[in-house]
Amino acid sequence: MERVVHPPISIVPTSLEQLTMMDADPAPAASFHLSGASDKRFRKGRQPPLAKGRNVWMDPVRAFDQLQADYWTTRTNLRSHDHPVVRSFANQRVEFIKGKFGDWRPSTALEVGCGDGFGMQHMNTLVDDIHGCDLSPAMLEANPAPADRLTLAEAYDLPFESDQFELVYCWELLHHVGDPSRAVSEMKRVGRRAVMLCEPNSLNVAMAAFGLLEPAERGLLRFTPGYTKRLLVEAGLSRVTVYSVACFTPNQTPPWLARVLSLLPYRWPYVGLYNIAIGYL
Ligand SMILES: C[S@@+](CC[C@H](N)C(=O)[O-])C[C@H]1O[C@@H](n2cnc3c(N)ncnc32)[C@H](O)[C@@H]1O
Repeated sequence: MERVVHPPISIVPTSLEQLTMMDADPAPAASFHLSGASDKRFRKGRQPPLAKGRNVWMDPVRAFDQLQADYWTTRTNLRSHDHPVVRSFANQRVEFIKGKFGDWRPSTALEVGCGDGFGMQHMNTLVDDIHGCDLSPAMLEANPAPADRLTLAEAYDLPFESDQFELVYCWELLHHVGDPSRAVSEMKRVGRRAVMLCEPNSLNVAMAAFGLLEPAERGLLRFTPGYTKRLLVEAGLSRVTVYSVACFTPNQTPPWLARVLSLLPYRWPYVGLYNIAIGYL
């Protein structure tokens, strides 16, 4: 009998889409095809989401991650890291963090979801050896850090050694992630001394309205001070504290208004625009 030789199958993703889709469940034996015939068990509008380009079920966490990956593939921040409002926003945050760290200056740090560099470019006044990773090539290309400091990576699966960085942190990442607990566990794994989360605060009315109005930001609605703190506690960090801070945002605030608001106190217990949670290993 003639032997059929199949071409080799590549298991290396060649695009971001493949990277995020490659572990989508294959259609289960009894999968329900939603296109065309209606399935009576689900009311319209409550159907589980479909994996893009495939007629398979996708659980809501994966669907959320897929939407975010699609969103960030082509996106960058509205302003660059050296815009005066971004600089003022970041300086306030970094000065606050320095105060909370006391005498400690981390020798190495990793920013997960570093994007185009808002955090890294300003946190480098606190840490010399700073690295970043992100799943968006567009964001990384816009990041001014040297290429050897930047890694294309998914927050759930960081390509770093355990205990590699003294500080592992994120600025506005987790509300774009479907399973924040899993991402925080991974941050803890590669961290040696501290993990810090900076995320929007849905107890702030303006921030909550932003989350309701902007579909890509909807994930922020679960981020209260308590939830942000719990992410670190449940990941096993100790001495966890959370602070609600800031009264202007970096991308939307007009420069004249940022100048005025930057004169106000930085801490706004419970109702600041952002929460900063810090925990130690
Ligand atoms: C709001 S931006 C924040 C970027 C940057 N940290 C800053 O402060 O400007 C969110 C970033 O998270 C990244 N991101 C979203 N989901 C991610 C994931 N699952 N793994 C890694 N990065 C992710 C996006 O590509 C984007 O760069």
